Amino acid sequence: MKRLRVLVLMHPDLVPPDSIKGYSEQESYVWKTEYDVVSTLRKAGHEVRPLGVQEELKPIRDAIEDWQPHAVFNLLEEFHGDTAYDQNVASYLELLRIPYTGCNPRGMMLARGKDLSKKLLSYHRIPAPNFAVFKKGHAIRRPARLKMPLIVKSVSNDASIGIAQASVVDSDEKLAERVTFIHERIKTDAIAEEYIEGRELYVGVMGNQRLKVMPIWELRFDNLGKGQRAIATERVKHDPDYQERRLIMQGPAEDLSPELRAAIIRSAKRICRILELDGYARIDYRLSAEGIPYFLEANPNPEIAESQEFAQSALHDGVGYADLLQQLLNLAIKRQAAKDA
Ligand SMILES: Nc1ncnc2c1ncn2[C@@H]1O[C@H](COP(=O)(O)OP(=O)(O)O)[C@@H](O)[C@H]1O
Ligand SMILES: [Mg+2]
Repeated sequence: MKRLRVLVLMHPDLVPPDSIKGYSEQESYVWKTEYDVVSTLRKAGHEVRPLGVQEELKPIRDAIEDWQPHAVFNLLEEFHGDTAYDQNVASYLELLRIPYTGCNPRGMMLARGKDLSKKLLSYHRIPAPNFAVFKKGHAIRRPARLKMPLIVKSVSNDASIGIAQASVVDSDEKLAERVTFIHERIKTDAIAEEYIEGRELYVGVMGNQRLKVMPIWELRFDNLGKGQRAIATERVKHDPDYQERRLIMQGPAEDLSPELRAAIIRSAKRICRILELDGYARIDYRLSAEGIPYFLEANPNPEIAESQEFAQSALHDGVGYADLLQQLLNLAIKRQAAKDA
């Protein structure tokens, strides 16, 4: 294997220490992804430079010109504190003609809005929940076609920010309350989607032209409290104690018929093509009781910590973590080479 110089872009607050020793799980949680990527690439023999960026592009350009990395590993999820700017950073790397891991800027843009992605997919008849968008500063009126219960989310935020049990509403009064909560606390427009009762499935996809689909993954809720819905709330995603108490588990999805499995794999690939995703992505679904996989959202550059869904599903497929990161770098380098050709 060729020894590469890899520049890893990340939020300045998340530049990890060299060793994890002496840090509790809670402490390391925030920068675990950055730590996993940097330490694993180093162990694999690459020369790795973490670079924290947030307000200035110049450090990126300087590092690329001075150090001439073979590739950028893009772990940046925001710029100027705005998640919508992640695509602009990818654009900048594209203009610098440097290979970078993960999705291209157009894919990031098409996948971002939980409304836009569903509109595009509905043209291609991919099942997705009915929804309505409630913009800030506008009256909150539910279209009659939209059936309760609904789940209310930020139209643009990720990582289940603002998602709690109270996000699922079954009256117009509760809907207005939760939409207002999103407007005021999360400070974005809100989307209300018909709530799909069912199983929570994640499908990792990797590739540029040729797409490889990882084993279908499931988030299971085996010990829900009374009246609680099986949804990936902020606590479910980010609170290890809660995960343990509530027996929140991830693993390969079992008991899917071969036909359904094939249909989901086909759907995940089509979604990547329609939304122009490349590099790596994770498509989230709810599988209804009738066996229909409803598209929830597409995540370009999904969470890539070793313990998280994407890496775990790759491992289940026999692709270890170091190997996985190497493949992401290879995809980055090949994509740029194809453009240069
Ligand atoms: N229409 C829906 N029906 C059922 N559950 C949903 C729906 N939309 C979201 N959820 C639940 O909320 C979680 C987070 O929603 P998602 O749209 O993926 O937002 P985020 O970008 O924050 O991950 C999902 O993983 C799922 O558990
Ligand atoms: Mg999600």
